[in-house]
Amino acid sequence: MSNGLKKALIGGGIAVVAVISIITGYVELKLHPSSPLKEETLSETELQAKIERGHYIARASDCKACHTGRDQAPYAGGFTLHTPFGDIVTSNITSDPETGIGGWTIKQFDAVLRHGVGKYGFLYPAMPYNAYTKLTDEDVSDLWAYIRQIPAVRHKVQSNQLPFPYNQRILLAGWNYLFFTEGTFRPDLRKDAEWNRGAYLVEGPEHCATCHTAKNSLGGNVREAFGGTTLQNWHASDLTPNKYIGLGNLSDDQLFSYLKTGTNDLSVASGPMGEAVEESLQYLTDSDIRAIITYIRSVPATLYQPPAALPASDPVIQHGKTIFETQCSACHVSNGTGVPNIIPAFARNPIINAQDPASLIQSVLIGAMGPQTAGNPTGAGMPRFDWNMPDGDIAAVLNYIRNSWGNAAPPVTPQAVAAMRRDLKARSWIYQGKQ
Ligand code: HEC
Ligand code: HEC
Ligand code: HEC
Repeated sequence: MSNGLKKALIGGGIAVVAVISIITGYVELKLHPSSPLKEETLSETELQAKIERGHYIARASDCKACHTGRDQAPYAGGFTLHTPFGDIVTSNITSDPETGIGGWTIKQFDAVLRHGVGKYGFLYPAMPYNAYTKLTDEDVSDLWAYIRQIPAVRHKVQSNQLPFPYNQRILLAGWNYLFFTEGTFRPDLRKDAEWNRGAYLVEGPEHCATCHTAKNSLGGNVREAFGGTTLQNWHASDLTPNKYIGLGNLSDDQLFSYLKTGTNDLSVASGPMGEAVEESLQYLTDSDIRAIITYIRSVPATLYQPPAALPASDPVIQHGKTIFETQCSACHVSNGTGVPNIIPAFARNPIINAQDPASLIQSVLIGAMGPQTAGNPTGAGMPRFDWNMPDGDIAAVLNYIRNSWGNAAPPVTPQAVAAMRRDLKARSWIYQGKQ
């Protein structure tokens, strides 16, 4: 072997070893985050007050909704999250030492919540640690006091059911490097206390961006925050001041009522938003809800402008109008005003103009249930129409709704309805193939 080649090989070898060492060092460092939190010795009254505060944070963070599987005891895990990369099942976080997190220290708990490192190494961001990283020391410590006293339930869960290579947790070091900004919330001193409280709740415990900010192909947040996105066939709306599809034309009172009770005079929160209200937002104090509104009002508006509305003379719109009048107007009312706090309006309701009609198609295909909250105990239901209408009729009626009463939105195609029918495993139209 020539001397030159030998030198090149040795040089290359050293470079490879150096790169591997840097990566291993980085991974090792990230896998053992340091936590400033310590166990405290408290009187019984102090402890009870701390647990109570922790319960509030747990509700604000919606821990229970994700960590309770169907037919499971609260926090015993087993709820499946379907991601574009495969299924992730939530962990048992009751105090069972074997299948839960019994015997954990506050430092281990902090490593999960604010650094994304769990029992088996890096966690998948389906656990919203990229939002919880904003939690203050005090809130993490209170939350731990609450979580650790949840009664033990033996329930073995295998969280990671992803296919190769996504089942390799080590890859998440790369994801974190690209998309995870670690660090507790830092108040913006140019803004007042209410705005900062709202920013903390929205960006931290309430993790609103998990649903309302679009993701790139690797599941990281895109830059246009709160511009709305679609997950599991629901479209989480634009929360920016955009006047057509966002919150620009809604008053503070309308937003307050929606977040606190799940309804207002225009809308009923369905699907994942209904759950967020039912499990989390309804328990927040009035001042915390107002703080959320103050903050969300301050995010920059998306630039979306609606297309021109299809004219009433368009044959699809005329067909849609006939369906609306026979199948929908009894509840949604012929002038599209709905029934305040019970049945959504179609006029002046930004959700109806959404770029992506996923929530609307889904609601018509398989129905929807409004949340039941203390402020609105009789959550109303929308019947399913999958069995009753072919894809073309569902598309036509939605196009009518999306182009009437001042609305304008991109077309809903029969193909989109057909695709969602398959995806939701909805029923077929009863006359399918029999016409
Ligand atoms: C959007 C759903 C979701 C929410 C909300 C959520 N989690 Fe999780 N959590 C998960 C998933 C999924 C995992 C498993 C991730 C993995 O295996 O990488 C997980 C893992 C964990 C673990 C790690 C268990 C282990 O064995 O390493 C703990 C502890 C935990 N969550 C606590 C909480 C707490 C406390 C809250 C509320 C502050 C919370 N979670 C909210 C989805 C969620
Ligand atoms: C689990 C996912 C999820 C989370 C978390 C979530 N949302 Fe939503 N949100 C949705 C979906 C889906 C809709 C659309 C509901 C519908 O079509 O009825 C929605 C609708 C809304 C609307 C109605 C918009 C309109 O035009 O009337 C508001 C306001 C809202 N969300 C605010 C928030 C805020 C504030 C947070 C955090 C405190 C939040 N959401 C957290 C999924 C979510
Ligand atoms: C029996 C009364 C009733 C009938 C009939 C009815 N709806 Fe509804 N609809 C409701 C209620 C109640 C809701 C609110 C439930 C929810 O959003 O969780 C709703 C919600 C909706 C939504 C969801 C909006 C959102 O929040 O995303 C759409 C779209 C909709 N209806 C369209 C229709 C269409 C189209 C028809 C006719 C084919 C129809 N509805 C017939 C009662 C009805």
